Amino acid sequence: MAAGKNIVLGVTGSIAAYKAADLAGLLIKKGHKVRVVMTQGAQKFITPLTLQTLSKNPVTTDVFEEQEGWCPGHIELADGADLLLIAPASASAIARLALGLADDALTCIALATRAPLLVAPAMNGKMWSHPATAQNAEVLRGRGARFIGPDEGMLACGYEGAGRLWPVEKIADEACALLGAR
Ligand SMILES: Cc1cc2nc3c(=O)[nH]c(=O)nc-3n(C[C@H](O)[C@H](O)[C@H](O)COP(=O)(O)O)c2cc1C
Repeated sequence: MAAGKNIVLGVTGSIAAYKAADLAGLLIKKGHKVRVVMTQGAQKFITPLTLQTLSKNPVTTDVFEEQEGWCPGHIELADGADLLLIAPASASAIARLALGLADDALTCIALATRAPLLVAPAMNGKMWSHPATAQNAEVLRGRGARFIGPDEGMLACGYEGAGRLWPVEKIADEACALLGAR
C-alpha cells in the first residue's frame, strides 16, 4: 500500500460537503497526510473546524489569509501534493477548473500542482447532465483528470438520478490506487 502520501483534499459547495469529514478520516486512517482546502461555498455547509480536527491539520479557506512563512501557502500545498482530490466537486468548481480560473485557493492549487487530479462530483442530476457540465468534465478528462462518480439514487434536492457523491470508502480506495500507481 502506498501510505504516507500527501493528499490535498478540496471541498466545495455541495450538500454532500459533510461527507468530506468521513473521507478525510478514512484517508488519515490509511496513513496519508491530508491537507483540506475549502471554497467559500463549502464553508456554508461544513465548518473548517470539523475538517481541521478530522484531518489533523490546518485548513486553507482563503488564498489571501495564508500567513505562515514567505512562500504562499497554496503554492507549498501544490508543490507538496502527491494527489489533488476534490470531493465533493460542485458544478461551479468543475467549470472553474475547466476554464483554468485561479480565483480561490483550490483553483490556484489545481493550476500550480503537477499532482494527479481525482474529481468526485456531487450535484443535482440535471446540473450533472447539462451539456455545459458534461463538456467541462470532458475538458478535464482530456487533461488527464480522473472522475469517480457521481452515483445514482435519491438526491438531496428531491430528484432521483445521477448526482450523488460516490461512496467515500470507494473514493478513498481510488485515491490510494492512484497514489500506488505513481
Ligand atoms: C442547499 C444547497 C445545496 C447545494 N448543493 C450543491 C451540490 O450538491 N452541487 C453543486 O454543484 N452545487 C450545489 N449548490 C450550489 C453551490 O453551492 C454554488 O454553485 C456555489 O457557488 C458553489 O461554490 P464553490 O464551487 O466555489 O464551492 C447548492 C446550493 C445550495 C443552497
